[in-house]
This record gives sequence, C-alpha cells and structure tokens, in this order.
Amino acid sequence: MKLAGKVVIITGGAGGIGKEASVCFANEGAHVVVVDCDPQQVEKVANEVNGLGLAVDVSRRDQVDWMVSEVINRYGKIDVLINNAGITMDATLVKMTQEQWDRVISINQTGVFHCTQAVVPHMIREGAGRIINTSSIVGRMGNFGQTNYAASKAAVIAMTQTWAKELGRKGILVNAVAPGFIVTPMTEKMPESILQGMKEKIALRRLGQPRDVVNVYVFLASDEASYINGAVIPVDGGLSI
Ligand code: NAI
Repeated sequence: MKLAGKVVIITGGAGGIGKEASVCFANEGAHVVVVDCDPQQVEKVANEVNGLGLAVDVSRRDQVDWMVSEVINRYGKIDVLINNAGITMDATLVKMTQEQWDRVISINQTGVFHCTQAVVPHMIREGAGRIINTSSIVGRMGNFGQTNYAASKAAVIAMTQTWAKELGRKGILVNAVAPGFIVTPMTEKMPESILQGMKEKIALRRLGQPRDVVNVYVFLASDEASYINGAVIPVDGGLSI
C-alpha cells in the first residue's frame, strides 16, 4: 500500500472521478475524507470506503473552515488535499449569464483557493504535504461554450504554479492533473454527436475512465512523486497534442 495512514481530503469525492479516487485511496491504506455538496452521496461513499464524509459547499468559506476543523479534530493532520470538485454551466459568450459565470468561478476557482488556504497552515506545521488540483485541457486550449469553465481551469493552473513556488520550501508539493474527456456524470450530459467528434480528435480514439485520472492522483500523492512540483500532467489520450 502506497499511502498507509495518510489523511487525504478529496473534494467532489462523491462524483465520477472523486468516488473512484475515494475507493482507490482507501485501497492504498489512506484515511479518506469525502467532501461533497451532495449530502446523500457523501454519506454513501464515505461508508463504502470506511472514511469520514462531510457535506460541504467548497464555494462557502465558513463551510470549508468547518470541514478542516472536523478533519483536524478527528485525525490531527492533513497529508493530501485533492481539489477535485468542479462543475460546468455551459453557454456561448454571448448567451452566458452572470449567474453561470459566478457559479462556475466560485466553485472551480474560488473553491480551490478556499480549501487550499484552509488546509495549508496544517501542512506547514507538519513540514510536509501534497496539494493535487484538477484542471482540464480546456484550461490550456479553451473550449466552445465554456468561457467560465475554461477561465476557472486556467486559473487552477496559475494557482498550482504559484503555490508550488511559495510552498516548496515548506515541504509542500503542489501539482495539477489536466484531464481530457473522461466518462463521468459531467460528460454524460454532453450530446453524443459532440462526444463522437471528440473521440476522433483523441489519438487513442476513446474517452478516458475515472481510473485513468485517479492513477495520477495516487502517484502524485505517493513517495514516488517526491521531486515533482508545479507540474500540470495531461491525462487526455493525446487530445492536446
Ligand atoms: P462529476 O460531476 O461526476 O463530480 C463532481 C462532484 O463535485 C459531484 O459529486 C458534485 O456534487 C461535487 N460538487 C459540485 N459542486 C460542489 C461544491 N460547490 N462543493 C463541493 N462539491 C461539489 O464530475 P467529474 O467528471 O468527476 O469531475 C471531477 C473534476 O474533474 C472536476 O473538477 C472537473 O472539472 C474535472 N474534469 C473532468 C473532466 C471530465 O471529462 N469528466 C475533464 C476535465 C476535468
């Protein structure tokens, strides 16, 4: 087991990639904290992985602070934070509403800031920690109908690189994963014709599975990645080349 005894917070831990991450980290011996805004699912996944489930909206700083204090009360430390929660609310630039812009930025960008800022003092105290952020290839390439989402995922890359520079000297490594198109509830709502078109652009000619992303989360959390800092690792089957 690569992560025996590690305390790992997974935001969006009840969703497609997050649930797979919760299961895989538990199988690697970690104490998993499943954080998600869906209270029923959070409870279900936490029970499945014998972990702690906390129903939290990462865009709400008060709830994030409460979540971190619950984890510290229970385990006394935080080894790994995976900022995986994210949403889409697509519209072309001309049609995008203020609400669509604000909601996506508040979860995908500000939520990552909230969770990381709340967790990092505890990692600094330990002199060690790993932050793993979930960006997207869209944060580098843009995407039709995703002004808000692409902007938020580009911000995740910028925050990853900034924090890698700030926190490296404190023993905290900060990296990001940039998935392409992965089969989860997020992509299931996309029209089949768009997904088909996407497959033709992917060198491997298929969408990814949650496990493809989670394997990289596990690697970045493990001792094997101890000299990787500020990296943005694409997991996209060759879509971005
Ligand atoms: P998903 O929709 O299956 O899961 C997202 C989870 O986040 C859900 O359980 C949802 O309840 C939770 N969540 C949403 N808002 C939240 C909030 N305010 N506070 C706490 N939890 C919240 O999506 P999926 O595909 O598992 O996505 C995980 C991450 O991967 C996201 O950051 C997404 O942007 C990113 N990603 C996904 C790709 C894909 O093709 N599925 C591609 C690139 C990036």
